[in-house]
Amino acid sequence: MTRSHWRFLIVGAVIASVATLTLPTMAAPPNDWSGVPAKTVKLFYPGQSSYQWLRSSEHKRADRKTQKGDSCISCHEDEEQEIGELIVSGQRLEPNPIEGKQAVIDLAVQAAHDSDNLYFRFQWKTRNPYPGSAHPHWQYDGKEWKALGWPQLHKKVWGEGQPAIYEDRLSMMIDDGSVPMFAEQGCWLSCHDGMRDMQDLAPTDSVKAHPLLGKSLKKKDVRKYLPASRSDSNLSWDKTKSAEEIAQIKASGGFVDLVQWRGHRSNPVNMADDGYVLEYRLFDSGKKMFSKNWDKAAKQPKYMFDETKVGFKSRTLDEIRDTSKPSSLIAEENAAAFDPNAGWKEGDMIPEYYLTRAGAEGSAADNSDVQGTWKDGTWTVLWTRKLDTGNPQDDKIMKVGGVYTFGFAVHDDNITTRGHHVSWPLTVGVGAEADIQSVQIK
Ligand code: HEC
Repeated sequence: MTRSHWRFLIVGAVIASVATLTLPTMAAPPNDWSGVPAKTVKLFYPGQSSYQWLRSSEHKRADRKTQKGDSCISCHEDEEQEIGELIVSGQRLEPNPIEGKQAVIDLAVQAAHDSDNLYFRFQWKTRNPYPGSAHPHWQYDGKEWKALGWPQLHKKVWGEGQPAIYEDRLSMMIDDGSVPMFAEQGCWLSCHDGMRDMQDLAPTDSVKAHPLLGKSLKKKDVRKYLPASRSDSNLSWDKTKSAEEIAQIKASGGFVDLVQWRGHRSNPVNMADDGYVLEYRLFDSGKKMFSKNWDKAAKQPKYMFDETKVGFKSRTLDEIRDTSKPSSLIAEENAAAFDPNAGWKEGDMIPEYYLTRAGAEGSAADNSDVQGTWKDGTWTVLWTRKLDTGNPQDDKIMKVGGVYTFGFAVHDDNITTRGHHVSWPLTVGVGAEADIQSVQIK
C-alpha cells in the first residue's frame, strides 16, 4: 500500500469508528523513522559453511563445541569482516570466488510496533549502480523462446559467459524458541551438503526418485531443511523422517518462518513471500504472488506485456534494467495473453515469471505491505509483519513483550542460493530488551 492508501484507510477507520464507536483505529507504520534507533547488522559472505562442515574437523578445534550447541558468536563475535574476506578471496569455503564480491554488507535495521504489527525499515547499499529488479527472461531466437539470464554461481555464467541476471532479495528467518539450537546457530542449522551450489550436490535423478522429496513433494533439488526432519546423525539430505513424524513436528511449531522480499517477484506488488523451513524450504498454504510464465503445452510464455498499457510487448537485453519502465509482468496491471503471431523478432525478451497481488491468498499472502525503493545505490525496504498472522500452522506468532530469534540475509548482485550475505542469529524484542528492540508507536 502506498502512503496515500494508508491515509485513506486511517481516515476511513476514523469515520467508521465515529459511526460505530467500536472499531479500533487502523494500524499504520511510523510516518517518520528518524526517531527510531537503527542497528547496523553486519552480514558476511558464508561460502559453503554447511551444517556438516561446521561439525567436521575442517572447522578447526570448533567441531565438538559446535556439535554441543555452542553459539557461533561465542567464538566469532565481531569477526564478520575477517571471515567474509577469507571466503570471498577463495581461500576458504568458496570454490567459485566472484571478482569484486563484498566481504560484508551493512544492513541498517529499525523496528517499531503497535498492538497489531511489527514494522521494519531496512537499508543497505547495492554493489551495482542499479537495483536488482530484473530476473531471468524468455528470449526469442527467431524460432523458439529460450531461457536467458542466470545467477552468478551458475556455471552458464562463470563457465560459458552467459549474462548474470537475478533479483535482489532480503530474507528473514524467525523462530520463537521452538527449534532447538536456532538461538545459538541460526540459519546454519538449515544449510546442508547436497543442496544447490553446496558440496556433494544431490543428483537430480536421486532427488526425483526420493519417496518424500521427489515422489511426494515433486522436487528436483535439495533446499533448506532442519535437523529435526532427518533421521541419521549426519543429517543427510535423503534420510528424511516419515511424513507423519514431520507433520507432528510442524504441528508443535518445530519449523522456522522464512520470509523473502524479492526485487522482481514480490516488490512490484508491494509484497514479500511467506514460507517456512522444516523438511524443505516450502511456501505457506494458499497462493503466493509469483508463478512461472510458461505454457508447457504450447512451449511459449503465457503472458506478454500489454502494449496499450506500457507501450511495449517485450524488451531486449539492453532494456531490462531501464527502471523508468516496469520490469515485472503483473497479471492485473500490465499483462496481456501471449500472442504467438505478434511479429516477434530475434532477441525479444519476456520475464520468466508473472506476479499477481489480486490472486495471492491465504497464509502465503501474509506479507502484503512491503515496499522497497532504490535510490542512489541504496535499497530502503519498509516491511509490515502482523504479530499474529492467524496462521500458526506455518508462521511464528509474535506478541508484544516477546523476544524472537532472527537471521537476516541479503542477496545482492545477481545471485541466489548460498551467494547471500548473512547474519549471526540475533534477537528482536517486540518492545522488550534484545539486540534489536522495537519502539512502540501509538
Ligand atoms: C568453539 C569456538 C567456535 C565455535 C562455537 C564456532 N566456531 Fe567457527 N571457527 C572457529 C575456529 C577456531 C575457526 C578456524 C580458524 C582458522 O582455521 O584459522 C573457525 C572457522 C570458521 C569459519 C571459516 C572462516 C575462518 O575464519 O577460518 C566459518 C565460516 C565459521 N567458523 C563459522 C562458524 C559458525 C557459522 C558457527 C556456528 C554454527 C561457528 N563457526 C562456531 C571457532 C568456532
